[in-house]
Amino acid sequence: MKLESIQAAERKLLLNTYERNPVLFVEGHGVYLRDEQGNDYLDLLSGIGVSALGYAHPAVEAAIVAQSKRLLHTSNLFFHEHSAELALRLTEMSGLDRVFFCNSGTEAWEAALKLARAHAGVLRAEGKTIGTRFLAMEHSFHGRTMGAVATTHKEKYREPFAPVMPDVEFVRFNNVADLRAKFSSEVCGICVEAIQGEGGIHPVSQEFFTAARELCDSTGALLLADEIQSGMGRTGKWFAYQHYEILPDVTTLAKPIANGLPMGAMLCTDEAARAFSPGMHGTTFGGGPLACAVAIAVIDTMKQSNLLTHICDVGGYFKQQLELLQQRHDCVTEVRGKGLMLGIELDSADLAAKAASEMMARHIIINRTSETVLRFLPPFILEREHVDIAIAALDEILTRLVATSAALAGQAPAGEHSHG
Ligand SMILES: Cc1ncc(COP(=O)(O)O)c(C=O)c1O
Repeated sequence: MKLESIQAAERKLLLNTYERNPVLFVEGHGVYLRDEQGNDYLDLLSGIGVSALGYAHPAVEAAIVAQSKRLLHTSNLFFHEHSAELALRLTEMSGLDRVFFCNSGTEAWEAALKLARAHAGVLRAEGKTIGTRFLAMEHSFHGRTMGAVATTHKEKYREPFAPVMPDVEFVRFNNVADLRAKFSSEVCGICVEAIQGEGGIHPVSQEFFTAARELCDSTGALLLADEIQSGMGRTGKWFAYQHYEILPDVTTLAKPIANGLPMGAMLCTDEAARAFSPGMHGTTFGGGPLACAVAIAVIDTMKQSNLLTHICDVGGYFKQQLELLQQRHDCVTEVRGKGLMLGIELDSADLAAKAASEMMARHIIINRTSETVLRFLPPFILEREHVDIAIAALDEILTRLVATSAALAGQAPAGEHSHG
């Protein structure tokens, strides 16, 4: 089927949940995706932070082939060869003790919320005073299921589904005074993204993260760090919280963990894990042999090829180039992020939308989030030469878009200076 017929069929047959770009991808190699006409696209988004090793990576392919010949599914009623093997790697990487596997980010987050409520119940049964409320952050994003949307700040994700899970209060991001004012023994969990992704690539401050850790320690509430977008090495450390030397009680992973096969994981301390017993929580597919085998291959490949160091190197170069771009264009108001989780703030939502779509027209995939932010979540195997291609394109596009809008407004393009 060709793009037009697929578009027509989807319009009729699918729920209207996505405004897709009019592109039909048929294959991918390395950091490039190929459309049905044979055009290659430089992918700086990796399926929203998923395809960590890029496309058609031999280690991923080999793990899929080998495991699919042996066993795809067992259910969680039986053992298989790979879940403990993967859990060992994840616990060593994270500093946490135990893992619950599932199939997506929102499911991992849902498990984290349920664990925090159940853990508070255990503490109450032991005579402690602790309630059921969550503190979540303004501009947070945790997924699309009912608990996840309840802790997600943007109203458009919550309001149509009201009433969502009660007992959630939003704290002004990085505002320690607001956090302290809203925290009490009624709180069973504080929800944080070390770097807010959908919220526009905003890192949590050391002071705020430390305060959240201390407040949780003071009552037994759990510190929940959502690393679904920032984890698995994206920021140059396995978990973004490791930049802060803070250990949360619970963290969540998904997106890149199995390089595109659906998988999520909730990791926690032994203390928090006390709250779950058989039957309280579960999943049919989660942690199946295929997804686990692929995740092991992803982690082992990342370790063997020293990808964390590579991410720091290429990510540092990318950020530096974005900062130089900012010096050349007044419309770039801020450069944020770590490793290969980067964003630039533009001074207008319209400009950001046009810049993202012009990049697409030049076959470079980026994404606009939070209206004014251009976001870059490339595969971890990105090289400096790819950064140079993207920066050169952005440079030209921003120059032209600003000049065009200045011409339309009948004025000279202010603040756009020449290179150097
Ligand atoms: C921080 C964060 N949490 C949760 C999710 C939800 O993950 P999923 O779409 O796999 O359910 C996302 C997805 O963008 C995310 O970025």
